[in-house]
Amino acid sequence: MSLINKRRFLNTACLLTAGLLMAACGKKAEPPAPAPVASAPASAPAPAKVYVVGTDAAYAPFESQNEKGEIVGFDIDIVTAVAAKAGIQVKFVNTPWEGIFNALGQGDRDMVVSAVTITEERKQTMDFTDPYFDAAQLIAVKETSKVAKFADLKKLKVGVQTGTTGDEAVSKLLGKTNTNVKRFESTPLALKELEAGGVDAVVADNGVVIHYVANNPGGKFKTVSDKDFVPEQYGIALKKGNAELLAKMNEGLKAIKADGTYDQIYAKTFGAPPAAAAPASAASK
Ligand code: ARG
Repeated sequence: MSLINKRRFLNTACLLTAGLLMAACGKKAEPPAPAPVASAPASAPAPAKVYVVGTDAAYAPFESQNEKGEIVGFDIDIVTAVAAKAGIQVKFVNTPWEGIFNALGQGDRDMVVSAVTITEERKQTMDFTDPYFDAAQLIAVKETSKVAKFADLKKLKVGVQTGTTGDEAVSKLLGKTNTNVKRFESTPLALKELEAGGVDAVVADNGVVIHYVANNPGGKFKTVSDKDFVPEQYGIALKKGNAELLAKMNEGLKAIKADGTYDQIYAKTFGAPPAAAAPASAASK
C-alpha cells in the first residue's frame, strides 16, 4: 500500500468508526438538517425538459392503472421506447378523455398517447406521428343477443365513450341526437352498463373490447365485427406546429420498428408478435 493509499484507508476507517459511534450514541449527535436550499446554484445546468404525456388510463391493454396506481400498457411502453430513441424524457399523466385534446392545445400536455385514432377532423387541430397501431370498431353484446351486424343496432340502446370514433360511428347510424346513444365518460363504464343491462350493445376499439370480454367472463359477453367499420390507425398526438418534436418522435418510432423493440412490446401485450404485414386492402374485407 502506498503512503497515500494507506492514509486514505485510515481516513476512511476513522470516518466509518466515527459514524458507527455516532449511530451508537443515538440521534442526539446529529446536527439539525440544514434547511433545503430553495434554488439551485446558478452554475447548475438547466434540468432537461420532461415532456408531459397525457393518457386516459382506462383503456386496457393500451393504457390502464395497475394495483400500485402506475400507468401501464402498450401505449406507455411504446412512447417510453420511442422517447429513449429520441433522447427525450417523458412522464405520463392520467388525463380524462373528455378534455384531453384541449389540454394538448393549451400546452398542459406536450403529447397525448391514448389509442388516439388519426382522423382528418383531429388533424385540423393537432399533429400526429406516423401510425403505430391498426384498429377497428367492434361491437360487444351479451352472449344471448341476436345482433349479427352493425346495422342491427339501429333500434337498440348503444353505449359508447363520449367523443371517440365509436361515438362517431354510432351517432352516424342512430342519429347524433338519438337518446338511444348512451355516452359514457370511459369505455369500461359503458361495458359495465352492458353487463347491468342498461344498454344493449357497446361499440369501441377492437383491442379494448376483446381484452375486456376475455377478462370478464362473468359478464357473458360476445363480440360482433362488421366489415363496414372503417380501418383506423393510432398515432401519438402533438400540439400543432412542433415540427422538431414530431420529427424526433417519428425517428424514434422508425427505430423501434426496425430493431425489434416494437414487436417485443406487441408480443408482451398481445401474447404474440404482430402478424406479417398484409396488404391493407386484404384486411377484413
Ligand atoms: N380510438 C378511439 C378514438 O380515438 C378511442 C380512443 C379512446 N382512448 C382512451 N384511452 N380512452 O376515438
